[in-house]
Amino acid sequence: MQVALKSCKIIHLVNTNERTISVRKILVTNALPYANGPIHMGHLLGYIQADIWVRAMRAMGHDVTYVCADDAHGTAIMLRAEANGISPEAQIANVQKEHIRDFDGFGVHFDHYDSTHSDANKARASEIYIKNREAGNIAVRPVTQLFDPEKGMFLSDRFIKGTCPKCKAEDQYGDACEVCGTTYNATELLNPRSTLSGATPVEKSSDHYFFKLPNFSEYLQKWTRDQGRLPLSIANKLDEWFESGLSDWDISRDAPYFGFEIPDAPNKYFYVWVDAPIGYMSSFENYIKAKRPDLSFDDFWKKDSDKEVYHFIGKDIVYFHALFWPAMLEGANYRTPSGLFVNGFLTVNGQKMSKSRGTFIKAETYLEHLNPEYLRYYFASKLSDKVEDSDLNLDDFVQKVNSDLVGKVVNIASRCAKFINTKFDNKLSATCAEPELVQSFIDAGDSIAKAYEAREFSAAIREIMALADKANQYIDEKKPWALAKVEGEEQQVHDVCSVGINLFRQLAVYLAPVLPTLAAQVQEFLKLDRFDFASAQTALVDHEIALFQPLMQRVDPKAVAAMVDASKDSLAAAAEPVKVEKKKEKKTEKKPEPKVGEAEVIGIEDFMKVDLRVAEVLDAAHVEGSDKLLQLTLNVGEAEPRNVFSGIREFYQPEDLKGKLVVMVANLAPRKMRFGISNGMVLAAGNGEGVWVISPESGAKAGDKVS
Ligand code: 2FM
Ligand code: ZN
Repeated sequence: MQVALKSCKIIHLVNTNERTISVRKILVTNALPYANGPIHMGHLLGYIQADIWVRAMRAMGHDVTYVCADDAHGTAIMLRAEANGISPEAQIANVQKEHIRDFDGFGVHFDHYDSTHSDANKARASEIYIKNREAGNIAVRPVTQLFDPEKGMFLSDRFIKGTCPKCKAEDQYGDACEVCGTTYNATELLNPRSTLSGATPVEKSSDHYFFKLPNFSEYLQKWTRDQGRLPLSIANKLDEWFESGLSDWDISRDAPYFGFEIPDAPNKYFYVWVDAPIGYMSSFENYIKAKRPDLSFDDFWKKDSDKEVYHFIGKDIVYFHALFWPAMLEGANYRTPSGLFVNGFLTVNGQKMSKSRGTFIKAETYLEHLNPEYLRYYFASKLSDKVEDSDLNLDDFVQKVNSDLVGKVVNIASRCAKFINTKFDNKLSATCAEPELVQSFIDAGDSIAKAYEAREFSAAIREIMALADKANQYIDEKKPWALAKVEGEEQQVHDVCSVGINLFRQLAVYLAPVLPTLAAQVQEFLKLDRFDFASAQTALVDHEIALFQPLMQRVDPKAVAAMVDASKDSLAAAAEPVKVEKKKEKKTEKKPEPKVGEAEVIGIEDFMKVDLRVAEVLDAAHVEGSDKLLQLTLNVGEAEPRNVFSGIREFYQPEDLKGKLVVMVANLAPRKMRFGISNGMVLAAGNGEGVWVISPESGAKAGDKVS
């Protein structure tokens, strides 16, 4: 196998077995995804970033545990389950399976994937709460909120709509007006209504439990400035919060709520953000119980632990992780995270992901069309330790993957391997012909490792690609394909190709954290027992390799276009609100379209809730500024015609529809769109290739009920 380069006179050779590092014990977590929607490209940026880091740290010899879980609690999940006609437990179990499948598909390999709805998490959340209560960090006082008398539940701001008290714009959420930007309390909305039942909410008071965050003001100001804890830009931003003074944090929600009941407080539940980060601890606890009895929970989580704990999170949830979370831990006498690694948002083609543009790409859809390692590489080439937004530019994506991975890296192996396979009995040369060159590739390992460790992935990739250029230059200069035609040059061909394979091996080892599947293929091709950084300190000589198999195909731009097409949801897109803030967008995420026979079974009572009516298209017109919508004026047999926006512009000319009878959902809640209010939905059949409006046989009249 690996033989030190005795004949090559390389000095400073490090025997793998002698290389000593001090092994760090590290726990890494990713933000826990909510259990009510699919994983999409925006999520994957952070998960792929963490997975690369974990793999890189392991490749350097550290003992890294990587856990995650679904964030299973909260009103949104409870209502989603209700809408799906299943229990919250069944809802979160279904979504967890999908999440695990998607992470697996992208090579994001958690040691353990749990749920916050676990016994361990319940016990840990109760314990942390009780310790904080005993330490005087909990207060109870009444809060007056809007209550839906029909649903029998308190309404958070996103479930209340009404008229803006300032500009009088209608259909505004309970926290802020999307038209004039004013923020207000839901109780100030004019003509408020519950978006859950349509009922007029009433004000009602109930006791709430608060975490006294101001008790930790001084502690947190210091904590956020500790070396390595937070990116400087985030620490600076948090200063604004300290300056305006921290407030008590409302940690309770009244029943009905899907979550954990607060100890000694019947019918009061922990707000989802209390037990969510505690899920980091309980997932780790469940993991070590099941698979790593050699690790100790207390050793990691006790105060002043010398083990390292890092949370990879998005910039939108810094507030929870940099204030509430360390304060809760400190209040319960636990250690706090060693650091928060914060990533920015993802845009696609320079814009916010959009269903109508087909850039709201779900993990599942991507995997149906493209190799996940393309995306891992592209993200790696963009990521640094800065809290910056990243753009997935699809043209650049195709170009970069094809030119770097296929054109440079894989090309080295395919240029050299065939000679070794066919002319030299699969054996590399007995000596290394270019010791300095190979050594320079080995030496680069240190700075590449440092870049990975510092999460400067784009710098690591730049360095690796510069090496790939150097390797290709060497092969271009030596021209083994030309030498192979010259009699007596066999040894030269053997030597050059063996050097080429060695250079390729170094590149593949350095890329392994980013491209684990490619690395596994290369490891097999090179017949190596190990593929970590420490194992790649000497050149391979007199070493047998396997038959070369193609390693990676070029990205086909047609596959990218097909993925975008499959992500287009023209009808849903038409109903997309103009301005959707991130959280609301997540909550309204559509489930994947079921195949025939797979749709959930509903009772007749559910079907009867939908008021389907025949409607006559009185008028149809293009909508200025929208390439998706047609504006329809529909006679539904009511005194006034209805205005409905329908996402069928790509498929129908307005004149084709005028006078036509269609079927519409007449009792759909009106939806405010940029172009006006849409009051109903026209039914259409679609199969990805076209859309066909549903029309009754002649004889039916506008207003007739469809059943
Ligand atoms: O913002 C989110 O998607 C949350 N589910 C993240 C939770 S992270 C942790 F605290 F659990
Ligand atoms: Zn307003």
